[in-house]
Amino acid sequence: MVDASLYLGDCREQLRMLPAESVDLVVTSPPYADSRSTTYGGVKPDDYVEWFLPVSAELSRVLKPTGTFVLNIKEKVVNGERHTYVIELILAMRQQGWLWTEEFIWHKKNSYPGKWPNRFRDSWERLLQFNKDRKFHMYQDEVMVPMGDWAERRLKKLSHTDNMRDPSKVGSGFGKRVANWIGRDKAYPTNVLHMATETKNRNHSAVFPDDLPKWFIKLFTQPGDCVLDPFMGSGTTVKVALQMRRNAIGMEILPEYFQLAQDSVDAARISSGQLALLENKDRPLGNSSPKIRVSTRISLNRWDIEPKR
Ligand SMILES: C[S@@+](CC[C@H](N)C(=O)[O-])C[C@H]1O[C@@H](n2cnc3c(N)ncnc32)[C@H](O)[C@@H]1O
Repeated sequence: MVDASLYLGDCREQLRMLPAESVDLVVTSPPYADSRSTTYGGVKPDDYVEWFLPVSAELSRVLKPTGTFVLNIKEKVVNGERHTYVIELILAMRQQGWLWTEEFIWHKKNSYPGKWPNRFRDSWERLLQFNKDRKFHMYQDEVMVPMGDWAERRLKKLSHTDNMRDPSKVGSGFGKRVANWIGRDKAYPTNVLHMATETKNRNHSAVFPDDLPKWFIKLFTQPGDCVLDPFMGSGTTVKVALQMRRNAIGMEILPEYFQLAQDSVDAARISSGQLALLENKDRPLGNSSPKIRVSTRISLNRWDIEPKR
């Protein structure tokens, strides 16, 4: 049995309802400063850090010490230059006690072409990884990728150095032994994720492709763990988490998007029920196949902060 808890309301209020150290992974994409102001509102770039810090403080409270927070964000262009709110946010979150462990790049494979006078088309976003502790859960083998042609070409003729541990030339203390990869068909991925943006109109203007939360859920959690998206929009993270047998918590301030998320969770629940039926067709009823239990909470003070429409 996995649970989905959906909260309608401002996550800055809703997060307070969650117990401390109860979440294994947060994957989220908050509104970027001022973008999408015509759909779900936006925060002024200069106010962004101040707006976000109470959220990250609550996320730190609810995250387990072994957990991870993945923040999808991108700085917008203001008056012809990139605004610095993302950089300022990283520094402020470090002050708040977070470790900025890693930065993944989401390369948006299908971004459309365009012409701007002083820059090229934007085809990537940041996925910032924050942790509370240096020792966090990470299941690297779950995201291994096929070795590809590289191995065949590179490992055919090994040099003397390839057979020894070759220390890094930049003095990082790391080293590599290329010969270690002989006979393997999978390798660890890089920190660049090549994924197309979601193109199906899911009635929300900034939907994650399913593969994005899926990749981080595989990397940082196990079945039965708990995944949270405090800005869930259409509910992609929650839906994918449930499909992967993780408990899921989602929060959304706008009722119309909350409804989309509820519909999407219902669909995941129905398909998991059908799966359970299929799995159980030759077994007696009452078998313990996974099922999804959904609870929704509607906040009474959800309009404390009026979203822009
Ligand atoms: C970038 S979208 C997230 C899209 C989501 N990743 C998906 O796949 O659909 C951000 C969402 O956060 C919601 N939001 C904005 N402020 C919020 C707040 N204070 N609390 C909860 N949700 C909020 C917006 O309405 C919007 O749906």
